[in-house]
Amino acid sequence: MLCCLRWTGGRGVPSDIGLDRVVAEVLVSRRYRSLAPEFVRRIAERESRHARRHTDAVKATKARLHQVYGAYVQDLPAERFVAALEGGGAANSDALRETCRQMMAEHASTRERLPIMDRFYVELFAVTGMPRTLVDLACGLGPLALPWMELPADARYVACDVDRRFVDVATAALTASGVDGRAELRDVVASPPDEVADVALLLKAAPCLEQQAPGSARDVLESVRAHYVAVSFPTRSLGGAGKGMLAHYRQMMARINEGTGWPVQELLFPAELVCIVTKGAITGG
Ligand SMILES: C[S@@+](CC[C@H](N)C(=O)[O-])C[C@H]1O[C@@H](n2cnc3c(N)ncnc32)[C@H](O)[C@@H]1O
Repeated sequence: MLCCLRWTGGRGVPSDIGLDRVVAEVLVSRRYRSLAPEFVRRIAERESRHARRHTDAVKATKARLHQVYGAYVQDLPAERFVAALEGGGAANSDALRETCRQMMAEHASTRERLPIMDRFYVELFAVTGMPRTLVDLACGLGPLALPWMELPADARYVACDVDRRFVDVATAALTASGVDGRAELRDVVASPPDEVADVALLLKAAPCLEQQAPGSARDVLESVRAHYVAVSFPTRSLGGAGKGMLAHYRQMMARINEGTGWPVQELLFPAELVCIVTKGAITGG
């Protein structure tokens, strides 16, 4: 069958389908309005290639976002979290920890880490050394763990996520903890941060990136400008069962790091496998 659509070269999106319009339409939907436009655009670009009409492109983009992002779009009471952090918890560090602990308990990914909070960063930094600059890629609610990191007074923390709600919470967590840095809305695949860091965290996000586009986690590992990159994986499903997840994710990590020659050191916690990749000193920062 002859296809009457013209192809715009470049990214292969039919010229009849305006990518800007597709992105704009997806972003007005309640479900996806907090996402970074560059992220929606990257997904839309892939999904629009085979679409014949604008509505098909919008539908395909939303369906794919549901697949690769659906798990995180649960109701996140970001405004309540920000208000709690701004409410003076920092006045005493035990109160701030308690506030952060309660919020982390409301999100699956950080809830699983709660039982090991007292040792997670201690053991991670025992391998990497205490970082002065830390980049938290696809941070989610990770910055709520700042009170447990016990970073030095002159430390700098840069967090990024594709969802504005996580970015808002991260900004409030930085202020409440008195840590210098910033949180930004960013697709770490489309535009990884160029900050030079001692340690980069890519915690429980690699499987999600690989689902968005195979090879993405490797791209991020290569582009991130950090001496150490901690890539972690869940070892239990949300239902609680292991189901061979440890072996599966060890294989995924081996593929992500294949051929780089960068050494990997494992830390195995009850529900999380952390693979610490030593990229070595970053030059030209
Ligand atoms: C399973 S959560 C992990 C969150 C956090 N790192 C942790 O360990 O608790 C995955 C996070 O990745 C974010 N994310 C997914 N794709 C992303 C991308 N391409 N760029 C930046 N963040 C992304 C999601 O918004 C979500 O917050």
